[in-house]
Amino acid sequence: MKITIRLIVSLVLVVALAVFAFSLYQVSNEKARLARDLERRSLILAESLQESITPLIQANAIARLNRIVEKFGNRERLKGIAVFDTQGIILTSTHQLKPQIAQPFPQAVNSVAENRSMGSFMTLGGQKMYIYTVPLFEEDDYAAGALTTFNDISYIDIRLREIWKDNILRFFTLSLLVVLSTMLVVRWSITGPIARLAEWMRELRTTKEEKVYPAVPPRGDVLEPLISEVTHLAKSLSMARAKAEEEVRLRLKSDSLWTSSSLKEYMRVELKGKKLFLISNREPYMHVKEGRTTKCIVPAGGLVTALDPVMRICDGIWIAHGSGDEDREFVDAHNKVRVPPEEPSYTLKRIWLTKEQEDGYYYGFSNEGLWPLCHITHTRPIFRLEDWICYQKVNELFAEALLEEISHEESPLILIQDYHLALLPFLVKQKRPDAKVALFWHIPWPNPESFGICPWRQEILIGMLGADLMSFHIQFFCNNFLDTVDRFLESQIDWEQFSVNRGGHATLVKPFPISVSYDHKVETEVATIHKDKRLLRECILKEIGIQAKYIGVGVDRIDYTKGIPERFRAIERFLEKYPEFVEEFMFIELGAPSRDHIRKYRELMSEVEETVEKINWRFQTKTWKPIVYLKAHHTHEVIDRYYRVADICMVTSLHDGMNLVAKEFIISRYDDDGVLILSQFAGASRELKDSVIVNPYDIEEMADAIKYALTLEPSERSDRMERMRSVVKEHNIYRWAGKLIAELSHVRLAVE
Ligand code: F6P
Repeated sequence: MKITIRLIVSLVLVVALAVFAFSLYQVSNEKARLARDLERRSLILAESLQESITPLIQANAIARLNRIVEKFGNRERLKGIAVFDTQGIILTSTHQLKPQIAQPFPQAVNSVAENRSMGSFMTLGGQKMYIYTVPLFEEDDYAAGALTTFNDISYIDIRLREIWKDNILRFFTLSLLVVLSTMLVVRWSITGPIARLAEWMRELRTTKEEKVYPAVPPRGDVLEPLISEVTHLAKSLSMARAKAEEEVRLRLKSDSLWTSSSLKEYMRVELKGKKLFLISNREPYMHVKEGRTTKCIVPAGGLVTALDPVMRICDGIWIAHGSGDEDREFVDAHNKVRVPPEEPSYTLKRIWLTKEQEDGYYYGFSNEGLWPLCHITHTRPIFRLEDWICYQKVNELFAEALLEEISHEESPLILIQDYHLALLPFLVKQKRPDAKVALFWHIPWPNPESFGICPWRQEILIGMLGADLMSFHIQFFCNNFLDTVDRFLESQIDWEQFSVNRGGHATLVKPFPISVSYDHKVETEVATIHKDKRLLRECILKEIGIQAKYIGVGVDRIDYTKGIPERFRAIERFLEKYPEFVEEFMFIELGAPSRDHIRKYRELMSEVEETVEKINWRFQTKTWKPIVYLKAHHTHEVIDRYYRVADICMVTSLHDGMNLVAKEFIISRYDDDGVLILSQFAGASRELKDSVIVNPYDIEEMADAIKYALTLEPSERSDRMERMRSVVKEHNIYRWAGKLIAELSHVRLAVE
C-alpha cells in the first residue's frame, strides 16, 4: 500500500507541476494576445476619430468635441475617451472619467513629445484599464494634442481566470486518471503478483499435501525474473523437504536413529504444526527459595528427565502443579512462564493447589494410596475418603485448566502423565471428544488381585479409559491392566489389538518404554572436554576426602521402592564375603529427599541413614569408609560427573516402572566402560540385558554381583557397555515421543 501511495503522490505532483507550468504559459500568451487585440482596436478607433477631432481642436470647438467624445466613448469594452492639449490638459473627456484622470496626463504629454502612439495598463479609480494614446497633428505637422481611449480590461481577467479554472479541472481529471491507472498497474503488475507469489510461497511452506511443491508458480510480469529465481529456490526447498519427510517416514518404518531434529521434523510433518499439550503433577522447573536467593531447580525423577527434552523441541504447553515456594513470583497473569530459564523453549502453565488439596491429592491418595498399590513392595496402601475427594477435585482443576488452553485448538493432542491424573482423560474427553488423549503411566501396573483392594478401582479405571491411548513401560503392565479392566469393568477386550471397547469408545493399550535423550553431537563435545577420566576421578575422591580403587554409585529419590537399604546390606555382605575389597571399594549414594511429609518416607530416610552409619562404623578406617551418602537435590551435571567415574552403578529397585537412572548411567559412559547392576524388577531390565541382573531381595546374590562386576575383564565390560549403549541410543526419548505421538495421532476417533 505504501508504495502505491508514494507512486500516486509523486505522479500527482508531477501532473500538478506540468499543469501549472502549462497554465502559466497559456495565461501569459492569452494576455499578450488580448493586449495586442486591444491595442489594434484602440488604434483603429483613435485613427478613425483623429480626422474629425484635430480640426475641432484647432477651432477650439469644445462643444462639438464633447459630442463626439460622448458618442464614441460608450462603445463596448470602452470606458471612455479623452482629448488632451499638447500639455496633457483635458480638453474634453467622457463624463465619468474626468475626475479620475490626472492632469497633466503623462502618457498624453509623452505621446505628443515623442510623436508616437503609446499603450499601457494602469488602474484608474480602482479599475484596471488599457490606456491607448495617439498624438494628433495638424496638416502642417504642428502638434495639436492627443486622443486617449480608456479600455475596460476586466474581460481579460475573466478570460484568464477561466483559463486557470479550466486547467485546475484538467489537473483534477488527470490526477484521478493517474490515481486509477497507477492503482490498476500496481495491482496488476506489482502487488498482485507479489501477493500471489507470497501466497504460493506460504502454501509451499505450510503445505500438508504430499506433493513436491504447490502446483503452478504464479505469473509475474515485471517480477518475472524474481519469480523465476524464487521458483528455483522453492523447488530445491520442496525437494529437500520431501527428502526429509521421506527420511522421517523411513525412520518411522525402519527404526533408525531418532534425534531431536528428526523428532522436530517428524512433528512438523505428522502434526502439521499442531501444539502438544502435556499435563503432569510434577513441574519440570521449580522456583525455590534457597537462603536469601531464589533458585530454579529441575526436580528429581524420571518424568522430567524424559519429557523436558521432548517439550524443548515441540514448543508446546506443559501444565503442572506449581509446587515451588517461589513459583508464583515468576509467572505472568495467566500463570505461565517460559522455560527453561536459560533458553526458553516451551510454556509451563502452573496450577495452584491449597495445602489441603496437596495433602489429600498428592501426599494422600496419589502417594499413600496409588503408589504403594501399584508398586509391589509390601507397603500397605492407605485409602482415605477425604483424600479421594481431594484427588477428584484436583483432577477436575487440571481438566479446567487444560480445557481452557485447548479451547481454540482443533482436535488437540494431549499427553497426560502418571497416576496423579487417572481421572483426567475421562474428564477431558467428556467435554472435548475431538481431542486425542494419551495417558502414560510411569509406574508399574499390578495384577487384578492387588489392584482390586482399591475402594475406587472402577472410578479410576473409567477415568483412565477416557484416554484413546493408554500406555505403560512394558507389555507385562499392559497385560495386567487389561486383566484388571476385564475383572472389574463391563467392557470388551480385544486381545489381538490390545484395546478396550467400552460404551462406544476404544482405548488402545500399548507399551512405550520411556528413555533418556541422546545427542551424538553433545556426546562428542562432552567427551572432548572430559577425555581424562583419571583426573575427574582424582578430583571427586579429593572432594570426598577418601581414597579407593573402585567406585560404585547409586542415584535415587529416597523412596522405599528403590531398594536402598537392600543395596547397602548387599555392600556390607560383599565386604564381609570379599574382605580384599575393604579400603579398595567405596560406594557413593546420591539421594534426593522425596515426599518427606509422608511417614513411610521419613522412616525410610532414618533407616537409610542408620544403615549407612552402621556399615561405615563396622568397616571404616582412618582414610576410608565404604559408603558416602550425599543426601541432597543434585543437578544433572553433578550426577553426570559421578556416573562417568563409577566402576559400577547399582539400580536395585524392589519394583520400578522403568528406572531412568540405569539408562542415564549408560548414556553418560561414552568411554564404553563401567558395569550396571540392575534389579530384575525394574522395567529397564527388559531392555538392558547386558547389565548384571539381580534380585534386590537376594542380598547374597547382590554381594556376588558386585564382586562379579568389579572383576569383569575390561574387554567384557566394554562389550557389554557398548551393546547397552547402542540399545539406549537407538531407543532414546525422541524415538519414544515420536512413536507415542504417531500412535496417538493415528488413532481414529468415533467423532471423526
Ligand atoms: O516415576 C514415577 C514418578 O511419580 C514420576 O512421575 C516422577 O518424576 C517421580 O516419580 C518423582 O515423584 P514426585 O513427583 O512425587 O517427586
